[in-house]
Amino acid sequence: MAAADVKVNAEVRDLTRIERIGAHSHIRGLGLDDALEARAVSQGMVGQAKARKAAGIILQMIKEGKIAGRAMLLAGQPGTGKTAIAMGMAKALGEETPFAMMTGSEIFSLEMSKTEALTQAFRKAIGVRIKEETEIIEGEVVEIEIDRPESGGVAKTGRLTLKTTEMETIYDLGQKMIESLTKEKVTSGDVITIDKASGRITKLGRSFARSRDYDAMGASTKFVQCPEGELQKRKEVVHVVTLHEIDVINSRTQGFLALFSGDTGEIRSEVREQIDAKVAEWREEGKAEIVPGVLFIDEVHMLDIECFSFLNRALENDMAPILVTATNRGITRIRGTQYRSPHGVPIDLLDRLLIISTEPYSEKEIRLILDIRCEEEDVEMSEDAKELLTKIGFETSLRYSIQLITAAAIVCQRRKGTEVDIEDISKVYSMFVDVKRSTQFLIEYQEQYMFNEVPVEAEEMETST
Ligand SMILES: Nc1ncnc2c1ncn2[C@@H]1O[C@H](COP(=O)(O)OP(=O)(O)O)[C@@H](O)[C@H]1O
Ligand SMILES: [Mg+2]
Repeated sequence: MAAADVKVNAEVRDLTRIERIGAHSHIRGLGLDDALEARAVSQGMVGQAKARKAAGIILQMIKEGKIAGRAMLLAGQPGTGKTAIAMGMAKALGEETPFAMMTGSEIFSLEMSKTEALTQAFRKAIGVRIKEETEIIEGEVVEIEIDRPESGGVAKTGRLTLKTTEMETIYDLGQKMIESLTKEKVTSGDVITIDKASGRITKLGRSFARSRDYDAMGASTKFVQCPEGELQKRKEVVHVVTLHEIDVINSRTQGFLALFSGDTGEIRSEVREQIDAKVAEWREEGKAEIVPGVLFIDEVHMLDIECFSFLNRALENDMAPILVTATNRGITRIRGTQYRSPHGVPIDLLDRLLIISTEPYSEKEIRLILDIRCEEEDVEMSEDAKELLTKIGFETSLRYSIQLITAAAIVCQRRKGTEVDIEDISKVYSMFVDVKRSTQFLIEYQEQYMFNEVPVEAEEMETST
């Protein structure tokens, strides 16, 4: 591939990034006011004010484009909202800023080298805002004629009549265009654009001239003016793609379809070099800008020493994203070494990190989070049941009590109840044990378990690798 023909495929613009996880679906931002102070309850966030404020300050720095290659570490016990804060940051950054997330242990299970996996993660978190001029056809649909083949089967030919306020033209249609017109449910009276390069059809709305034929129109129908002037136009479009998306599209063996399956495999370094050169060229010509995003690595103590030195190096790059890491470990061994360090992160990397600590929630805060989750999951719950669930959350763990909401709602449904009550909560509490009770149980009934028979040496071998 020559550097000259680096592709930025139009298809990529249509990619929806699916990374929202049920457990955090109630988080809509960090819930800060203009002075970056944390509101008590806002955007799905409760308490943890200091950490939220600190995250907000880092966000501000990201938005102002002031810091490249900075990193932060969210440190705190399990269930104190570390992942929730990272998700809140992502939401607050908006759609355009790339946000990539991974878990430390993922590195070891992918079918690629550790450094390749990390490189891909970094490049998923670096966006390129590209300005492109494209040729489009824009007009109001006068008529669509499709020739039905006599023998049945798919329609292969047809004609599309489009008009502006000044002109009208008939275009011949091939099978692909007929399919996309059908898919987009285009009918006469719609105002559409057709991207000449990709053939992609976008519906802009219904023409005002048709606003009187009410049938077949929902309340959401958008009316637009019939376009003026020529049918063919040049239009400047701006879109953000990540470096990883450009990599995949341009790697010969993969193609953009790999982006949908996630099965991208390793990407050759020369492909990346050419893309970086091309992007640098675009930046110089003012055609592109870099949009540093956020890379979130959860359970960062699961990375090993090689990964940590990779991170150190990658953060030096002038295109580096903001690295947000999280851990629930205290002083522990750095994987791949015999040394121990705070959070299992080597001192030289730790030194670069802004550390934010999260604290366990009070009973009142747990109650508020449970209220939000009930609302999010559309579960009606009695006051007494909520009180009991709050107690359970405080005594065991926040996450366990959140999980009981769904389970209790199902139990309630089965007894044809309308509101989750104390009895439903007690039922699921005895049905699913939390970690503490499970451990207690295991200690009491050790002998009866198979996995107790694993010889001690084997266990040690596993943990020391
Ligand atoms: N401050 C908070 N406000 C609202 N929900 C929270 C808050 N902290 C945690 N949660 C929710 O509680 C659950 C556990 O928190 P999580 O972020 O996974 O903890 P951690 O990553 O620290 O182990 C998640 O469902 C999360 O969305
Ligand atoms: Mg977490």
